[in-house]
Amino acid sequence: MNAAAPKALQVQAPDYVKNPQLIAWVSEMVALCKPAKVHWCDGSQAEYDALCQQLVDAGTFKKLNPAKRTNSFLACSDPSDVARVEDRTFICCEKEEDAGPTNNWKAPAEMRGILNPLFDGCMAGRTMYVVPFSMGPLGSPIAHIGIELSDSAYVAVNMKIMTRMGRAVYDVIGTDGEFVPCVHTVGAPLAEGQADTTSWPCNPTTKYIVHYPETREIWSYGSGYGGNALLGKKCFALRIASTMGKTQGWLAEHMLILGVSNPQGKKYHVAAAFPSACGKTNFSMLVPPTGFDGWKVTTIGDDIAWIKPQADGSLRAINPEAGYFGVAPGTNMLTNPNCMNSLDKDVIFTNVALTDDGDVWWEGMEKDTGFVPEHLIDWQGKDWSPAIAKETGAKAAHPNARFTVAATNNPALDEAWDDPAGVKIDAFIFGGRRSTTVPLVTEARNWTEGVYMAATMGSETTAAAFGAQGVVRRDPFAMLPFAGYNMSHYFQHWLDLGKQVESTGAALPKIFKTNWFRKDAEGKFVWPGYGENMRVLKWMIDRIEGQAQGQDTAFGVAPTYGEINWTGLDFSAEQFATVTGIDKAAWAEEMQLHTTHFAQLASGMPQALLDTKAELEKRLAA
Ligand code: GTP
Ligand code: SPV
Ligand code: MN
Repeated sequence: MNAAAPKALQVQAPDYVKNPQLIAWVSEMVALCKPAKVHWCDGSQAEYDALCQQLVDAGTFKKLNPAKRTNSFLACSDPSDVARVEDRTFICCEKEEDAGPTNNWKAPAEMRGILNPLFDGCMAGRTMYVVPFSMGPLGSPIAHIGIELSDSAYVAVNMKIMTRMGRAVYDVIGTDGEFVPCVHTVGAPLAEGQADTTSWPCNPTTKYIVHYPETREIWSYGSGYGGNALLGKKCFALRIASTMGKTQGWLAEHMLILGVSNPQGKKYHVAAAFPSACGKTNFSMLVPPTGFDGWKVTTIGDDIAWIKPQADGSLRAINPEAGYFGVAPGTNMLTNPNCMNSLDKDVIFTNVALTDDGDVWWEGMEKDTGFVPEHLIDWQGKDWSPAIAKETGAKAAHPNARFTVAATNNPALDEAWDDPAGVKIDAFIFGGRRSTTVPLVTEARNWTEGVYMAATMGSETTAAAFGAQGVVRRDPFAMLPFAGYNMSHYFQHWLDLGKQVESTGAALPKIFKTNWFRKDAEGKFVWPGYGENMRVLKWMIDRIEGQAQGQDTAFGVAPTYGEINWTGLDFSAEQFATVTGIDKAAWAEEMQLHTTHFAQLASGMPQALLDTKAELEKRLAA
């Protein structure tokens, strides 16, 4: 050993960690990443409080005014580190075909050759946090365990809210239980004696979000933000879990799960896939509007669903997460009161603005108060005022600003949210963000047509991912950035699952496609959205109950104007026609996009979907 090199840290696991494989792996990673310290997280409140204080001392967190937001903090990231980085996200399986054309791929050996030198010494001068977490209820047969090693205290405290994090996880894995190893670094090592010059260390030039599905490993380098860094969420619960689901016969989906009860107390469960920043959190917490007395919506999950077919043919879903990492801008008492009421205490806000009295602010809050504050500190730490905004266009909050909050803060939390048995799904919804072409709601005539609708879903890109915004792209199943394997094989998996359910004689859940986002000639949303989406949800339930006949269209069964409950909403038949109309010319163009999309996915594309496409084209031409 070089005499000048720092002495390798001896790993001393707490006595309650009894898994030799885990300890060996942590030792190996300590030897590679060379942190100055190792902190084994126990998940206690005392630990959370101490880490938050440490983040305050480091300048990463600002403690908010406790009279306004009890025990809550604001973090502002580096301006280069504000969202998921899809072009830096990789699926590294042995065969490129298994990752498919929609994923970035490199062979595992090649990627290891790139990452090893990057991770060598990457945590120098920092603390490595060992974060044990369970996706799903602790100890439940459907849950899966991960251990995240991270040099970010921000990650550790966010993981405490977002997952079941803590010491009890070690009891679950015991001496030989399985876990998914997840390594995360901000990629900003500190030289001996060097201190951080920024409150949000990250690597502005080099980022890698890497998955090895075959060995079930996650390696993340260079970003401290959201899905890039909180590895239980997109990396584990979607990309790794979707590959597990493919081989084990279940689904890991980018879906909210909600319960909806009618006035008679009959309850239904719906899982809905909307792309990132397209309304999952909102829909999962929906407050029924006027005209829906006695109706109630409750939240099981707002972002991810793990769905398993049962012997009786039912599909049961759980939310593997324990908190919400939700979009702040646009959230207010009109759009999502349950969400606003979740944010009074114990919240971590990221990239929103700070008010002069120590509270948070984001675009959309003016709808509640009737005014925009005269002065704010924006998410980049700069003075902000309505005048400055007018001149420079600067937003007070970053469009992808988020809050991290425990599910238990949600007043609309479903009583079964933590139930290992999950809830039985009665319907699936797929909904993109489209200003034109796609109607408000249609119902697939059968499972295959539903899979086709989901597989061809288009959506305008949002601030949830780094890159151009508002561009229509195909986002099949809202899983484009999250499928851990070949997209065509993923379609096949959905078709197979349908066959499997049908073989039990059980009824398959209905599949609906929605679009809340059609705009008029002035660029304004025509459909009021938010709570008013209940009107569409109710029509879906009527369809399940056989109480709405609907009308056949080229793209599925659609509601007639008279089948929607309009009590309390002034929405004319003409307006309804603008959000439901099918423009043949626009759809001819749309089908061209489907053709291009299917051509990209040609290898492994299920014949059934090609057949469905041909039928749709025939209908359209008729
Ligand atoms: P991820 O967490 O990124 O996966 O997103 P999400 O699907 O949970 O998105 P969220 O519910 O946070 O919605 C984000 C944006 O969509 C916000 O700007 C909302 O104001 C807007 N939004 C949600 N529901 C509706 C709706 O019904 N109509 C319209 N027009 N906008 C909506
Ligand atoms: C999404 O982008 O779909 C999110 C936010 O839910 S993040 O966790 O950052 O991916
Ligand atoms: Mn999401």
